[in-house]
This record gives sequence, structure tokens and C-alpha cells, in this order.
Amino acid sequence: MSSPIIITIDGPAGTGKSSAALMLADRLGFDMLDTGAMYRAVALLAIESKIDPHDEARLAIAMDRTTLDVDFSSRPPVIRLGERDVHHRIRDADVTGIVSLIASHHEVRDRLVRAQRQVALQHDRLVTEGRDQGSVVFPDATVRVWLDARPQVRASRRTEELRARGEQVDEERVLAEIIERDSSDRGRAEGPLQCPTGAAEIDTSDMTFESVVTELERLVRARLNESNIRCGGCA
Ligand code: DC
Repeated sequence: MSSPIIITIDGPAGTGKSSAALMLADRLGFDMLDTGAMYRAVALLAIESKIDPHDEARLAIAMDRTTLDVDFSSRPPVIRLGERDVHHRIRDADVTGIVSLIASHHEVRDRLVRAQRQVALQHDRLVTEGRDQGSVVFPDATVRVWLDARPQVRASRRTEELRARGEQVDEERVLAEIIERDSSDRGRAEGPLQCPTGAAEIDTSDMTFESVVTELERLVRARLNESNIRCGGCA
């Protein structure tokens, strides 16, 4: 059996990480893990269980009493909270509004980091995206990437995405929320949003989606070649 290959993609909100990670995974024939969706599912658990999002101890108990699974039988994989597919529900504004606070809790991060490492044991060709994948969860990943873009560009992309879903949004408000969420994600003590040491940095501000994916694929294939890593089942 060939060694596992893990590619991490980290960066702030609105850099297009999830879509780029999924497309990259498709091109390589890898699985893709959206770790932000896991934090969002815990935020939804807090909302539905009427737990104060500051109450870390109660959140931990609720997490231990429920199952949070990533179902890889769909592509992209869907998140299941208990038996329910919450893939769409976790993108709603009430979840987005508290997820950064939820993600700042040690008890939450500890459980999700363990769950993410467990996923990697079962999926040995994995593109995983989030905020701490290359810095904390998989510091020995085969390839680590940091995606960034100017805040205004990120806000405009996120606004388009939300409008495409039929939501009425104000771009200035989206920008303010992005800035606030980044600052909270950067400032937390555990697993803060930061560029992992040694990561390849890509500023996507002036790039098309297609060119971001092409650059990611080029980078990954070059690293694998340099390190003489055989991709095995890679497409
Ligand atoms: O990528 P996203 O917007 O779906 O992420 C939701 C929140 O989860 C965001 O505030 C950052 C947090 N997050 C995190 O702290 N660590 C991760 N690995 C992924 C997301």
C-alpha cells in the first residue's frame, strides 16, 4: 500500500477554499474534507439544543451525546448531525453568526481535530481545507497551501454566492462580517487562523477560479514529483 497523501488548504473566509479544494480533489481523484462544515454543524447543534454558544461545558456534553459524521458517499461529502443531512442548513445566517465563537472553544476543537485525523486514517488521498489544517491538524501534510485574497474581493465573492442562493444581502455588511470573523479566528488561543510554516502562499484576488485550481494542481504535482512520492491511484 502507498503512503497517505494529505494536502491542506487554509485561509480566511471567502477565498474560495471549499470550491477550489473540491475541484482539486476531483482532478487528482482524492477525497475532500470541508472542516468549516464540521464547526458549523456544532454551531447548529448549539442552536437546536438551545445551548448558549458561550457555554463550552454544555456544548461538549451535547457533542458527546450526538454523532457528527462526514458522509463520503456523496460528492461533495455531506455532514450528518445525528441521522440528518445538515449540508444546506449549516450555511444559514444564524449558524454563520455564532460559528466563530463556537470554534474558539478548546472542547470543541479538541473533538473536531480528533475527528479530522480519524477521517484522514480512512481516506489516504485527502484534500482538507479550513483554518488550522496545515498548522495544527496535519503539520506533516505532504503539501500545505495558504489561500488569501483582499477583504473586498472576498466580500464580493461571498455576496455573489449568497445571492446565487436567493438570499438578499448587502455587500458592505458581508464585508464587515468577514472582517469580524477573520479577526476572531486569528485572535483565538487555539488553532488560530494563520499561514502554516512552509506553506505555499497564493493570493487569489486577481485570479479566476479556474486559474486557482490549475495553480494548486501544478503545485501539488510538482511537490509530489520533487519528493518522489508516487501518487498511486491519483487521476
Ligand atoms: O470555512 P467556513 O466559513 O465554513 O468556517 C466556519 C467557521 O469555522 C469559521 O469561523 C472558522 C471556523 N473554522 C475553524 O476554526 N477551523 C477550521 N479548521 C475550519 C473552520
